[in-house]
Amino acid sequence: MSNYHIKHLEEYYQVYRKSVRNPEVFWEEIAEEHFMWRKKWDNVLSWDFTKPEVKWFEGAQLNITENCIDRHLHIRGDKTAIIFEPNNPEEEAQHISYRDLHDKVCRFANVLKEQGIQKGDRVCIYLPMIPELAISVLACARIGAIHSVVFAGFSSSALATRINDATCKMVITSDGSYRGAKTIDLKGIVDEALKECACVETVLVAKRINTEIHMEAGRDHWLQPLLDEAYHDCVPEVMEAEDPLFILYTSGSTGKPKGMVHSTAGYMVYSAYTFKNVFQYREEDVYWCTADIGWITGHSYIVYGPLCNGATTVMFEGVPSYPDFGRFWEIVEKHKVNQFYTAPTAIRALAKEGVEHLEKHDLSSLKVLGTVGEPINEEAWHWYDDNVGKRKAPIVDTWWQTETGGIMITPIPFATPTKPTYATLPFIGIQPALMDENGNEIKGNQVDGRLCIKFPWPSMARTIWGNHQRYKDTYFSAYENKYFTGDGALRDEVGYYRITGRVDDVIIVSGHNLGTAPIEDAINEHPAVAESAIVGFPHDIKGNALYGYVTLKETGESRNQNNLRKEINQIITEQIGPIAKLDKIQFTNGLPKTRSGKIMRRILRKIAGKDTSNLGDTSTLLNPEVVQDIMDNAL
Ligand code: WT7
Repeated sequence: MSNYHIKHLEEYYQVYRKSVRNPEVFWEEIAEEHFMWRKKWDNVLSWDFTKPEVKWFEGAQLNITENCIDRHLHIRGDKTAIIFEPNNPEEEAQHISYRDLHDKVCRFANVLKEQGIQKGDRVCIYLPMIPELAISVLACARIGAIHSVVFAGFSSSALATRINDATCKMVITSDGSYRGAKTIDLKGIVDEALKECACVETVLVAKRINTEIHMEAGRDHWLQPLLDEAYHDCVPEVMEAEDPLFILYTSGSTGKPKGMVHSTAGYMVYSAYTFKNVFQYREEDVYWCTADIGWITGHSYIVYGPLCNGATTVMFEGVPSYPDFGRFWEIVEKHKVNQFYTAPTAIRALAKEGVEHLEKHDLSSLKVLGTVGEPINEEAWHWYDDNVGKRKAPIVDTWWQTETGGIMITPIPFATPTKPTYATLPFIGIQPALMDENGNEIKGNQVDGRLCIKFPWPSMARTIWGNHQRYKDTYFSAYENKYFTGDGALRDEVGYYRITGRVDDVIIVSGHNLGTAPIEDAINEHPAVAESAIVGFPHDIKGNALYGYVTLKETGESRNQNNLRKEINQIITEQIGPIAKLDKIQFTNGLPKTRSGKIMRRILRKIAGKDTSNLGDTSTLLNPEVVQDIMDNAL
């Protein structure tokens, strides 16, 4: 039996039982056998969910990049670590070997040091999916700087908020980016953001689209000349197990985005161990995750997890629709991809275009298919299974979160029988619980409730940057001694989990987590708007789309409603980014409120979803009369 590489269902159950009966012994064995440590730990785990405080492998010293790069050099030096597939299929792909990666990461790390970055400093990375993105992440980790990657689709003001929250000293960006047929002026967005960020001293700029850009003297530097000059080796900084590795922002239901802080040793062990098992990665395989490194999926399953296992990982710069909807399948064929990991929204968008695009390509290399980010509907699941995997490649529906750092509920391919729309069984070491409204755990099968985790796992986020109280309130206060996920789930007769969706005010649109509060704040900045409420409604491709109810101020003038709609979406684009634009905007005379003044989103959600047969009790509302009016004018 192999604890590290699980191949049968029986093995899964055995290892799982071991991992929950004696977690410390279990994780110690995994950590001991499969990673490189400068010093071993004094204590495997200490935890207290009431504080909350969790420490894994305390006393250990390591550097994650030694595990991702250096230790592979003598056996896999010439093996490809990263395949970079550019936006434009005419441009040649790049194969970066482990040896090249070592050279590039070391040079970059030395540049960071020369520019005054030290262990513990925060560095914001705002880059498209080009090799510099993965390399800069690893360069930060090499010297112990804390990276904060901001997805390059976020607007300047969203970027500024994140830079300031973590008081980043440096921003790494590029002149621009390619996205399908378009180019985006990333540097212009950074310049705009930095008007509000006094903490940033230096900006490093990678060249990608070769446009003329403004370079601020004394602040901005082209990256390439610095890399060329830098020394090709860099001694890794020795990190403590619990030193922060990175910050990554995620939306909350209220307030500003939460900077989730992940630490070094536990994150490394868990992301690597899950990668190996969930994708059944073998030495010769080529693995491709289509996510952006700006999200946790990219951190754990494009960069850290795969590289820790000495894998070949594909980084794709472009979009699934450019130059046409066959692009993904062309890449699978070209690089003979064995494991393919994407999101339900991409699957639905591709399914809509028909199977012609698939039929042109040889997909026989595919062994495992993955999905993540939102619940996958049955139709999309079957389309993926029938047409992409030809019913031979098991689908791993992986449930997890930015906060969990790694995959939490998932089948193990070839071991766990899959079931459409079910994430199936907890991964090794994960102890889920379903809770009822009164805070009691619901035991037994064929039940549903709110999903919690009742025991720590190595890659859980340790805090919210600068706000530990908020970390406690958000995740550890709803249920005593448990981590609350914010999701609802059901457990079927054999113990399989199906995630039913968020139970809070977070809406997942095309796999992106969006909080209602920041969007409403943006809308309310429009001078004509009195108040607003956002809800999600079902959408064929995006999973959910946004529906905004907007009450205007009584200004006496009547404005063109379509112009107002455009202006509102413009503000949202500026404040958050185009992903948060509203599909529908209904102007209302008022919003339904409870007597304490809270907007009743439940009712608005039903109206937006055209499900008004049972609106529940509206008699307790402060203003029940607005409900009929909203229903009559629903879009
Ligand atoms: C939320 C976390 C973790 C990577 C990407 C998203 C939803 C995630 C699934 C799945 C149903 C899922 C949950 C979760 N979610 N995976 N397989 N089935 N729902 O990370 O942005 O932190 O979002 O995504 O609602 O809470 P994230």
